[in-house]
Amino acid sequence: MILITGANGQLGHDFQRLFDELKIEYVATDYKELDITNIEKIREFVKGENYTHIISCAAYNDVDKAESERELCYKLNTYAPRDMAIVAKEIGAIFVTYSTGFVFEGNKKVPYTEEDIPNPPSVYAKSKHEGEKQTLAAYEKTFVIRTSWVFGIANNNFNKQVIGWSKGRDKLNIVDDQVSVPTYSKDLAEFSWKLIESKEFGLYQLSNSGECSKYEQAKYVLESIGWRGELGTARTVDFNLPAKRSEYSKVSSEKAEKVIGEKMPSWQDAIDRFLEEINN
Ligand SMILES: NC(=O)c1ccc[n+]([C@@H]2O[C@H](COP(=O)([O-])OP(=O)(O)OC[C@H]3O[C@@H](n4cnc5c(N)ncnc54)[C@H](OP(=O)(O)O)[C@@H]3O)[C@@H](O)[C@H]2O)c1
Repeated sequence: MILITGANGQLGHDFQRLFDELKIEYVATDYKELDITNIEKIREFVKGENYTHIISCAAYNDVDKAESERELCYKLNTYAPRDMAIVAKEIGAIFVTYSTGFVFEGNKKVPYTEEDIPNPPSVYAKSKHEGEKQTLAAYEKTFVIRTSWVFGIANNNFNKQVIGWSKGRDKLNIVDDQVSVPTYSKDLAEFSWKLIESKEFGLYQLSNSGECSKYEQAKYVLESIGWRGELGTARTVDFNLPAKRSEYSKVSSEKAEKVIGEKMPSWQDAIDRFLEEINN
């Protein structure tokens, strides 16, 4: 039996769908059923159950708000995963949690590997990096999987925002100085599960293949949906956002792909399937 936390989010939703397809038993929890910031509640929840895995998809993901909500951000992204790892160890279950390519400062021009040293530029990224370290130190049967720019059917994301903005507007400006790669939560769930089944615990990265700027991502989405407006470029500084963004944060999936024996699909293919999914 698998315990999923943050199950109403993008990735949590797609893990549920995957386990339905694979006929794997799971218990799906979100904030209401299991608040991951309370270790005693987690202990109580797993007591007497036979969980083989705890997969945590819950997180604090608002990069800008985190600058003023530091405490809550650390509670969710650092201490909660550490505490879940501790509880997983107590019951002998495998623990899985997620981090971000934003842990890197962004000076590189080629994909970051697990060997690169993070230098997180924002409160959100610092909380995630601290979470990686504390979780891996707490329990040896842990997977920490970094990913980037997640999109899926279940929650809000950049693809959905772009589609929303395109309605009723004939001009859009999107930043072209942030480069990474959009990652489909459906692919992330599927590849994560293959990785988890390997039992080769540790730090990994999984994102769709290729890379693009936010502008290129928006262009691909807008062309795919047949928008006829004018798309221009903007600079990140134009928006005066509270949190500093890495200019380049693409993470290489090579290490995970070697273990799995399969390559992540391209981001364009992933967006095609996502658009098909939201149209159905
Ligand atoms: N989204 C991205 O672009 C991105 C990029 C890099 C890494 N990641 C990481 O990938 C993982 C999955 O991301 P995602 O996009 O699927 O996240 P998501 O859609 O934001 O889902 C997170 C879920 O966690 C829930 N949650 C919040 N506080 C909770 C609490 N105290 N206890 C239990 N559940 C709680 C949220 O509920 P509410 O909605 O009610 O708050 C939400 O359903 C996360 O670790 C995330 O940090 C995401």
